[in-house]
Amino acid sequence: MRILNVGVLVSGNGTNLQSIIDKSETGELPAHVVVVISNKSDAYALQRAKNHSIPSYVVRPRDFVDQVSYEQKMIDILNTHKVELVVLAGFMKILSSHFVQAFRGRIINIHPSLIPSFCGKDFYGIKVHQAVIDYGVKVTGATVHFVDENVDAGPIIIQRTVEVKDSDTAETIALKVHQIEHEILSEAITLFAQGRLKIVGRRVLVEE
Ligand code: GAR
Repeated sequence: MRILNVGVLVSGNGTNLQSIIDKSETGELPAHVVVVISNKSDAYALQRAKNHSIPSYVVRPRDFVDQVSYEQKMIDILNTHKVELVVLAGFMKILSSHFVQAFRGRIINIHPSLIPSFCGKDFYGIKVHQAVIDYGVKVTGATVHFVDENVDAGPIIIQRTVEVKDSDTAETIALKVHQIEHEILSEAITLFAQGRLKIVGRRVLVEE
């Protein structure tokens, strides 16, 4: 099968990145992580990239005059490495239409809730799981979706649920959700690599 060139954007720990790297190295995933970009210089995800000899870059908005030149730098890096699919894996920056247009239909994001619940610009990382506990929902989960101009609003590729038990805390939910994130992110990348995802309006159809 053809191996897809993947570029991963990160901001933090990078367990999703690690999962993609590990599965691509064993051949479970028809993808190769060719580059990692972080907006934070202290993101542990950068170390994970180095451990696997994957080129990594720190690109910080504050080092650029505006959002477009910041995003253009990332676009140039991704193109230099011949990236076919951009994966936002714990990337905590909102991208403008400049970036989205450069990779339209070729950017996916993993979000730690069942979109359209607990998503949008104020919902990221552990905050999402605390909001889940505070609201009292009985199930939560994770979503992989295509990225468009609106935050956490692009067509949904895969969702999976986890149960919220009385004993759960934001931290235990985060652990459970991380586990299913790693599963559905690699499933989505595989479907994309196989050319089986078809966007029809808001829906993503999976071709047999
Ligand atoms: C993941 O739970 C991911 O879904 C979330 O950040 C975490 C990163 O974990 N992303 C967002 O909240 C984006 N809105 P990781 O660095 O261990 O992969």
